[in-house]
Amino acid sequence: MTRVNLSRRQFLRGLIDVVGVAAAADMGLLAWSAPIHHDAGVQRMAMPQLAAPNVPLVNPMTLARFVDPLPIPPLAQPVGERTHAAYPGRRLPYYRMEMRAFRTPLHRDLPPTPQWGYQGMSPGPTLQAQRGEPLLVEWINALPQEHFLPIDHSIHGAEREKPAVRTVAHVHGARVPADSDGYPEDWFTPGHSALYHYPNGQDAATLWYHDHAMGITRLNLYAGLFGAYVMRDPHEQALGLPDGDCDLPLALCDRLVGKDGKLYYPVSDDPEAPWVSECNGNAILCNGKLFPYLEVEPRRYRLRLMNVANTRFFNLTLSNGQPLVQVASDQGLLAAPLPRKQVTLYPAERADVVVDFAGLDGKDIELRQQGDAILQFRVRDRGRRDTAAMPTALNTIERTPPATAVRDRVLTLGEMDDAGGRPTMMMLGGKHWSAPITEDPRQDSVEIWSLVNLTGDVHPVHLHLVRFQVLERRPFDLFAWNATRTLKYTGPAQPPPPEEMGWKDTVRADPGMVTRIITRFEGEPGRYVWHCHLLEHEDNEMMRPFLLRARA
Ligand code: C2O
Ligand code: CU
Ligand code: CU
Repeated sequence: MTRVNLSRRQFLRGLIDVVGVAAAADMGLLAWSAPIHHDAGVQRMAMPQLAAPNVPLVNPMTLARFVDPLPIPPLAQPVGERTHAAYPGRRLPYYRMEMRAFRTPLHRDLPPTPQWGYQGMSPGPTLQAQRGEPLLVEWINALPQEHFLPIDHSIHGAEREKPAVRTVAHVHGARVPADSDGYPEDWFTPGHSALYHYPNGQDAATLWYHDHAMGITRLNLYAGLFGAYVMRDPHEQALGLPDGDCDLPLALCDRLVGKDGKLYYPVSDDPEAPWVSECNGNAILCNGKLFPYLEVEPRRYRLRLMNVANTRFFNLTLSNGQPLVQVASDQGLLAAPLPRKQVTLYPAERADVVVDFAGLDGKDIELRQQGDAILQFRVRDRGRRDTAAMPTALNTIERTPPATAVRDRVLTLGEMDDAGGRPTMMMLGGKHWSAPITEDPRQDSVEIWSLVNLTGDVHPVHLHLVRFQVLERRPFDLFAWNATRTLKYTGPAQPPPPEEMGWKDTVRADPGMVTRIITRFEGEPGRYVWHCHLLEHEDNEMMRPFLLRARA
């Protein structure tokens, strides 16, 4: 393809705008989908357009294991109290979260790694909220003026005339009014801040906060801008689950690290369009460290597992074969504890698990990702025991009947490839971010969203504002869809597995499947977003606004 001062992607986008998607496909310049990979567990990595790293990278296998203690992010502390117009007559705790550059080693034997983090750490301090007690956070951008990771200026929202360093914070999974939700275009630059309010009117759950700036979210998270937001409520507190120092967030992600200690973010071989469709590292970080260890006592612990990676999914096990007893998913408690040999988490998904170290005094146990160690637990008796028994029932989860839905939206997950089969952008419902809003549910109405995955990859799809239930996954005929845009099912609907029977805010949309979710759109009217949580996809068009219309 000849290129006149235009990147491949700009060329294709321009062409689509002029002749439309279908015509561009007919011209042989685009394909709507890649071949289906039948093993959904395999993510495509052999990207022909990945440029070779320009710096020597660390091979984590050569590093000593378990020489750094696991960092536990401190609890964020309010710096005072303030009033807020949305909560007349109340004084609310006021937190300041300052985004700063900092350097810290990812491992004892590596040079310090320059990173960005809230309060100068990654993960940032853990925000704790109690149901029914609103709080205020001032998110402050105190970052440098230049980004240290490669911005792709051909991506919508990250054009060359935009400031390089832009941030906007979002609490993932929180039901927050639109003005405090962190709309991707509400970004601000170094020297500026935004005061957000969080009503905390929702069930106990492991939420997390992270950056959401248009077109550079993947880079801002890779730099370190994320942390845990733990919602608590009296119902959960009465269950006697492990608490205090036995209740820990574990933020998992992967990185590529240069021998100089710097984070390396992969780029394509096109300097005008460095975006790549996936970013997989070889160093798995747990709370910001490579192969850390944690001393635990022979009793139960609650581990809040959070996948904060750009692209990677985790398959977590314990080295002694002991089950991880899952008690909660994205949006809070499951109906009952669910022992699992293995916990799979796609980006942005969470699982709270209880691990019982009783009887294991003196033993070392590893948390593993697909057989490789991430974290070592050293069980050492300090004389403390569990006081409460593990509850047998946790929560009542009423299934939302599909018949209550006023609407079933059929929404495609698509990929644009160039003639060489290389992905150039990802789309939802065949639409760009900037197209007029099409998803416009009414406040308090129930809708089903049928996510039709036309690509060969898994996409973890996330809706802001709401919690939802997974109804089913059902295989469909891709060729029939491409020919006539009709859904022809090729097999029976598969009900969700037990770990997906609780409330979710992010769902795995498998290739070749229609994944159906149901939700009641509770919350304040306004403009929110839904998107794929593979951050490379989200940044490159796989995100759409939605409008919550006021109830009639
Ligand atoms: Cu983790 Cu749009 O969010
Ligand atoms: Cu979110
Ligand atoms: Cu995606």
